[in-house]
Amino acid sequence: MGTRKYKKLKDQTRRLTPLAMNWKGKFVAEIPEGKALISGAYPNIECEVSFGRYSKKGVIAKPIEFSSVPDYAKEPICDHFKSCGGCTLQHINVDAQCDFKRDLFLKEVQDLEFVRDKSNEIEMIQSNDEMYYRNKMEFTFQQEKWGDKHFGLHEEGRFQSIVSLDTCHLQLPKMQEVFAVVRDWYFNNEVSGYNPWSHTGIMRHLLLRASKHTDTVQVNLICNATIEEVPFIEELLSDLKSKCSISGIYFVENRSLSDAVIFENVTKIYGEDYLVETIGDKEFEVAPQAFFQTNSSGVFTLYSKIHDVLAKQNALGGKLIDFYCGAGTIGIFLSECFKEIVGVDEIPQAIENAKINAKRNNIENARYISEKVEKLVNMQDFQNADVLIVDPPRVGCHKKARRLIKRLGVEYIVYVACNQQTLQENLIDFIEEYKIVEMCLVDMFPQTGHLESITLLKKVRPSS
Ligand SMILES: C[S@@+](CC[C@H](N)C(=O)[O-])C[C@H]1O[C@@H](n2cnc3c(N)ncnc32)[C@H](O)[C@@H]1O
Repeated sequence: MGTRKYKKLKDQTRRLTPLAMNWKGKFVAEIPEGKALISGAYPNIECEVSFGRYSKKGVIAKPIEFSSVPDYAKEPICDHFKSCGGCTLQHINVDAQCDFKRDLFLKEVQDLEFVRDKSNEIEMIQSNDEMYYRNKMEFTFQQEKWGDKHFGLHEEGRFQSIVSLDTCHLQLPKMQEVFAVVRDWYFNNEVSGYNPWSHTGIMRHLLLRASKHTDTVQVNLICNATIEEVPFIEELLSDLKSKCSISGIYFVENRSLSDAVIFENVTKIYGEDYLVETIGDKEFEVAPQAFFQTNSSGVFTLYSKIHDVLAKQNALGGKLIDFYCGAGTIGIFLSECFKEIVGVDEIPQAIENAKINAKRNNIENARYISEKVEKLVNMQDFQNADVLIVDPPRVGCHKKARRLIKRLGVEYIVYVACNQQTLQENLIDFIEEYKIVEMCLVDMFPQTGHLESITLLKKVRPSS
């Protein structure tokens, strides 16, 4: 359906009843024109909405009034909840958030026999922290051509518009202290924000990473300028060093036209080269660009569950393949449970980090290969493996990678998915030779529509 019908709805109001949540944490109502995507609503509860922007996916609708309010409703903790695109589910308690995510998950994987027969066995593990759990945040500076300055997160549904924030309740508390110092400096001094339309202005992004273990923050200032061109930078650095718990400060010069945070010319201007974070009793070095799961205590829960599902099958003890290994975290976490580990990731920097992390933890039974999984040719590295962990990016596992995994013929596959929309399509490819033994959900990102899942597959037929 085209978008012309949506255009006519702009600023109109209508009474709608959304039926379910989608993975963006919006509530979807079918309308004669197509789909209305309602933020801050409740399933099966009628509300009056006003229509706004639209895309091929549907027309955005904001609730004005509800016919009733469910008992799982909750007062959002954040004043910016209605305008900020950072989190979408603060108006619902976490038990209900988990129920909605579980329902959506079951719908995505409904064609799998295991789900049809044993959906009540699929456990949902809730996060230890409802708020203040994120160890990485990317804030944006912006300045309009008439001078108004903004600093915060992208507005809901409007990528080029920034909502200025006083705080963000998802980030770890030490990050909030840094955020406040940078915000005050930016608004109280003659320092320009980037204008994405004219590509002028200096400050572009503030990327914060933090360690829950050391309670310190790594600050990355991303600018459309050299450090010498940033006015009052010495005042900012001095405030950060004296008022905040800083691990290191990096300056990144980025003059590209793209809005993404690009690490072009990176200079460390203060402190340590990397943050140190722990998962269980293992330590990991987190450099500015390194991939690291964004919920430090949630990742312990996720990896512990991977351990537990394998332990339940007596599948520990042999050789482990860790595909899409990033900085090697899963394999290193499990290193004492396996004789040998082989990790693969396409990004050479991630593999370098994995090697450093293995060394830091005195692990001598791990090897790492920098290659796309679907392009691996030397199968000798993976011979006689017993367990294969697959933790692909949101697009899922490439078809050729799935073929290769089947050819390896390991006894157990643990499929970790961060995008449940690609999961069923990926798993179905294995079902002739493998059966699903266990599925489990981990709510690593409360207040948002994101969910992690773990699927354990056991070999039942020889590879064809
Ligand atoms: C979801 S992350 C998982 C990282 C790690 N397992 C962890 O728990 O921190 C996905 C990883 O897959 C890597 N990746 C993406 N496409 C790949 C491919 N085709 N082959 C190998 N690695 C890939 C990315 O570099 C990233 O490190």
